[in-house]
Amino acid sequence: MKKIAVFTSGGDCSGMNAAVRAVVRTGLAAGLEMVGIQKGYQGLIDQEFENLQTRSVSNIVQRGGTILQSARCREMLTEAGQEMAVGNLRRHNIDGLVVIGGDGSLRGAGALDKREIRTIGIPASIDNDIPFTDMSLGVDTALNNIIYAVDCLKDTATSHERTFVVETMGRNCGYLAVSAAVACGAEYALIPEVPFDISEICAALKKRHVEGRDNSILMVAEGAASAQQIAEQIKDCIGFETRIMVLGHYQRGGAPTAFDRLLGARFGVRAVEALFEGEGGKMVGLSGAQLTLVELDRVAETGRRQIDERMLSLAQKLSI
Ligand code: F6P
Repeated sequence: MKKIAVFTSGGDCSGMNAAVRAVVRTGLAAGLEMVGIQKGYQGLIDQEFENLQTRSVSNIVQRGGTILQSARCREMLTEAGQEMAVGNLRRHNIDGLVVIGGDGSLRGAGALDKREIRTIGIPASIDNDIPFTDMSLGVDTALNNIIYAVDCLKDTATSHERTFVVETMGRNCGYLAVSAAVACGAEYALIPEVPFDISEICAALKKRHVEGRDNSILMVAEGAASAQQIAEQIKDCIGFETRIMVLGHYQRGGAPTAFDRLLGARFGVRAVEALFEGEGGKMVGLSGAQLTLVELDRVAETGRRQIDERMLSLAQKLSI
């Protein structure tokens, strides 16, 4: 193996830079040529290739986003797009590839590996919806961002006797909303995985009001409803004022937490080591404290990572 390429793809998240740095430095230390591809699969198709040196990845570990930039690329979903991508990798003599991204990006990585470009995936998405890894890159930073925002809102909620409905990202996965509810002491987490009855929630909030508990936080995962919809439904029946906050892309950015920096470093090194070991078509994952390798096909077949029942029950128990 002489030349490895790396790119970041899909929604950006904090920790991607730590992973890029680890991939590049592990390859360079072993005497390989390292190539960065800009803007994910789009840059692969458009041949935005660039040689990377040790200094190319200096001073990035503390930065959110991705120095390689990212994109969502519909062309890669087509046979023609995949052929073009493989052709470009061959033209640049790339014999190993590391793809850092979410579920769609990892499916693309599997497709390239099947076309005999040895590829290892690194799970990176704030949604934490990728199976076979306890945590994806960016989740911990996003969660800390949410916690910071909700802690601020709670000051106003308490001072003004208000309910705040806080909308988190996560696509069809409620991980961020439930985990944030536990970490912030929110009263409810409305998530796509668990049906909810808005009239029951209203009755419970009203009862709280009668008991003199005059503020509350409802976390709503974007896959369950919008904060606006929930606020409309509860505003006239709970006895205290309602405001909303849509956290949006704020969740994805900012300096990565220690956890995401370390995870990015570990994932990046392991991905390159796996290529050295002759592996391909696999994703690096985290299971407890251990790093694992799992077939990208299994990741794709399994679909969305299931919400942890223990976390759900924790949220329910603590929100009385
Ligand atoms: O997958 C990451 C994510 O931030 C989701 O939580 C969200 O639904 C989506 O990406 C937003 O995508 P975009 O950045 O294209 O608006």
